[in-house]
Amino acid sequence: MRGDEELAIARWSALGDRQPTMVRVGEVELVLVRDGDALSVLYGRCPHRGAPMGDARVEGESLLCAEHGWDFRLDTGVSEANTEDCLHRFASRIDRRRDAVMVDRREVERFFLEHPHALRRDDFL
Ligand code: FES
Repeated sequence: MRGDEELAIARWSALGDRQPTMVRVGEVELVLVRDGDALSVLYGRCPHRGAPMGDARVEGESLLCAEHGWDFRLDTGVSEANTEDCLHRFASRIDRRRDAVMVDRREVERFFLEHPHALRRDDFL
C-alpha cells in the first residue's frame, strides 16, 4: 500500500482483544478483529444471509456468525466447514505511531464495484 492510498479506519488501541468491531468505509462494511498483536480486516456481512459480523464471536482461530454459526478463519476469511464460503480479507496494517488501522482505499472501492450487493444492508433476514 502506498501512503496516499491508505485510509485510517479505526484506532488500534480502541479495539478490544478478540472483539469483532464493525466499521463502514463508504458503502462497504468491514469487521475488524484484533487478536493480540495480529489484525484481520474482513468483509462485514455473512455470505449466508447477510448478518453483520460485528455480532459474531471469535472461537479459536475463526469468527463464528451469530445467526447460524458459519465459520470464517481470521487469517484467510475462508470457512473450514466449507471452503467455498468466505469473507473477503482486506490488506491492512497497523500504524502504531498514529495508533491507526490502515486499509487500502482502492481495494475497498474495487470490492464495492465488484460486489454491489454490499449496498443492500437491509436484506438481512
Ligand atoms: S447469516 Fe451468518 S450463518 Fe446465517
